[in-house]
Amino acid sequence: MKTLRLPIHDEIDRFVGHYIGVMDMDAVRLAYLAAQVPENGLIVEIGSFWGRSSCFLASAAKPGVKIICIDRWDKPVDFKKFNENITHFGFDKIITPVHAKSLDVVRDFRDPIDLLYIDADHHYDAIKADYEAWMPLVRSGGTIAFHDYCGKAWPDVKRYIDNVVQEELQISGIYQLIWSGVKP
Ligand SMILES: C[S@@+](CC[C@H](N)C(=O)[O-])C[C@H]1O[C@@H](n2cnc3c(N)ncnc32)[C@H](O)[C@@H]1O
Repeated sequence: MKTLRLPIHDEIDRFVGHYIGVMDMDAVRLAYLAAQVPENGLIVEIGSFWGRSSCFLASAAKPGVKIICIDRWDKPVDFKKFNENITHFGFDKIITPVHAKSLDVVRDFRDPIDLLYIDADHHYDAIKADYEAWMPLVRSGGTIAFHDYCGKAWPDVKRYIDNVVQEELQISGIYQLIWSGVKP
């Protein structure tokens, strides 16, 4: 079966790579969620690796939208490669990378978030900590999306969403491995 792909897909596959991160339908869904963010809105991504998902988010962002990409970029995860990748597409103009641990960043973060995308540490306590710390900063009507909503490879992501997140957010969809919900 042929999957849905975006015009920018081939170049992201070629330049950034297909090693890890979002797959085809994940990418389409992320781009869709980014496109819903209003002009001058704010997207925060936690866990950016080499920037594959960041590029898909940026590719669909409306004018004036800013994207903050947070990653600890510990070796062998390469911050230089992330920067090369976003710069290749000109996305460095809208993406601000923050080289730090998620929970260290959130302490001083004040801006209301329109779309929060969580794809960092996939263990239960870590997902819980990220969600609890960042969720209050998402504006009412904003979206929170998670990658790896998948019982087999990452049971903790699914377990946390099923147990907690879906009680608090209004589910807006599950596309491939992306679960998303709207904050009431
Ligand atoms: C699965 S990768 C992200 C893939 C990326 N979203 C993509 O699609 O290309 C997970 C990333 O989360 C980062 N990470 C894990 N725990 C983190 C934390 N506590 N704070 C910041 N980044 C973290 C890792 O360094 C890694 O780059």
